[in-house]
Amino acid sequence: MSITIRQLIDWKHQRRPIVALTAWDWSFARLLDAAGADLILVGDSLAMVALGHATTLPVTLDEMLHHAAAVRRGVERALVVCDLPFMSFQESSAQAIRSAGRALKEAGVQAVKLEGGHAAAAASVERLVEAGIPVMGHVGLTPQSVHRLGFRQQGKTPTAAERIAREASALAEAGAFAIVLEHIPSELAARITADISIPTIGIGAGTACDGQVLVTADLLGLSPRQPPFAKAYADLGAIVTRAVKDYAEDVRSRRFPDNGAIAPTSETGT
Ligand code: KIV
Ligand code: NA
Repeated sequence: MSITIRQLIDWKHQRRPIVALTAWDWSFARLLDAAGADLILVGDSLAMVALGHATTLPVTLDEMLHHAAAVRRGVERALVVCDLPFMSFQESSAQAIRSAGRALKEAGVQAVKLEGGHAAAAASVERLVEAGIPVMGHVGLTPQSVHRLGFRQQGKTPTAAERIAREASALAEAGAFAIVLEHIPSELAARITADISIPTIGIGAGTACDGQVLVTADLLGLSPRQPPFAKAYADLGAIVTRAVKDYAEDVRSRRFPDNGAIAPTSETGT
């Protein structure tokens, strides 16, 4: 049975933290799901960690859906959410509905996420929810606005903090089921978490949030550039390098394949 949005909201009130991670393909999605991730986000960060772009801006909706469908096939338990990429929702609420509708119909995800808490974003959230599409908000550092904001922490002045708090409330009122708080001071994240009735999922936003999300490439040590708030729980980069070097050495010295690997006739029954 899949985790439901209702459950995630209940967990906020039970103070049970939500474990969220990103995924971009079937192999990792099934591992994350089996290991107990509650929410799997097909984040547009895949533009950077899977496609090699310098920002999230170039990834298209078609590319997102291609990855989201693969992730969906690997997940049985977690709630799967797909990011609406840059310029797939900003134009109008109608565009947001068309894009989100494709994510549900073509990729089979259960919800979408969109960046921003200004009036137009909140209006789109409201229209999506009316159309039956669950939406996650995302405020603070919103990487699709990198050319305006940079990758800097947001909400550092009282005015900026007020604005982010207001945006989070507006998204909650518009019907979002959860909100990502990215790279804001932990006191601000704590205040928003206490003020709104839907879960906050933090990334670089302190421990008071109702859940945490990390980009899986950062968690596993696969990113050449880690953000300061990420934590690598493994060094998969080093493990992959070691395995490839061992293999290369074995091939060049003809140790692989070894004799045992040349199938004996018994295996095929002849
Ligand atoms: O794209 C992404 O990975 C995200 C998370 C960092 C929240 O939006
Ligand atoms: Na994103």
